[in-house]
Amino acid sequence: MKQLSTAHLLGIKHLKKEDINLIFETADHFKEVINRPIKKVPSLRDITIANLFFENSTRTKLSFELAEKRLSADIINFSASQSSVKKGETLIDTVNNILSMKVDIVVMRHPNVGASMFLSKHVDAKIINAGDGAHEHPTQALLDSYSIKEKLGTVKGKKIVIIGDILHSRVALSNIFALQLQGAKVKVCGPTTLIPKYISSLGVEVETNLKKALAWCDVANVLRVQHERMDLNYFPSIREYTQLFGINKEVLDSLGKKIVIMHPGPINRGVEITSDVADSNQSIILNQVENGVAIRMAVIYLLAQQIKK
Ligand code: CP
Repeated sequence: MKQLSTAHLLGIKHLKKEDINLIFETADHFKEVINRPIKKVPSLRDITIANLFFENSTRTKLSFELAEKRLSADIINFSASQSSVKKGETLIDTVNNILSMKVDIVVMRHPNVGASMFLSKHVDAKIINAGDGAHEHPTQALLDSYSIKEKLGTVKGKKIVIIGDILHSRVALSNIFALQLQGAKVKVCGPTTLIPKYISSLGVEVETNLKKALAWCDVANVLRVQHERMDLNYFPSIREYTQLFGINKEVLDSLGKKIVIMHPGPINRGVEITSDVADSNQSIILNQVENGVAIRMAVIYLLAQQIKK
């Protein structure tokens, strides 16, 4: 049986093209499973998974939980706001206490860059990064590419523009790595203050004119402005941001072609995207969410195959 080349899923940066192909092939199988009347397989009855969320989440947390349940794994859930982290416990102590309950896989979201890499070096479990600060969100990028492939038949050669707050976005960085690995062309578009200076070193072009960016692309992946990660004012007002970088029906209709609209969520309706676009037939936002379960089942299943019982 084919195996992933990595022992953990810490970021797309550590994956090979063959790993992405294997994850997608496995996700195809699980997508068929989750559309059956009985949406469950017994594959991971001997596996216990801890979901550790040190930062808020709706989609990723529920999607991982559902993926684990569909694979018949035992799961425990941990939320930092209701835990002894508040009493001063360190990350390693918290996780080692959880692991002493015989946990095989840890899914972790953490506000600090590199937290899952750190954990993978200090604890004896498979680690899946569910988002580390403004660094990487690998399962989001995998489900995004999978959704593009599903919609357009391939990722190779497609033109993708990522729009908005690139500076604070782990979704942007993981998407750039994943899309380039599969042969897509990637541009970013947003206020210059929200584009990181290192972006050109990743082989990504910057387009600050939204209409030009949309006219170029096959797919626009629209990001939220991450106010919670901002310690400065990066643009004068939300109103101005929406005027310059908000996606609305008028701008899409003026393109003379139908591009695919994506958004990782959570959406700020009326800020980066209007409701008539988010809910239109050009949008694959809810397909992304559906595909997230199949992708996470695939990642968990493939890492679990490496565990010797
Ligand atoms: N896309 C995403 O990571 O959403 P959540 O923050 O709700 O998990």
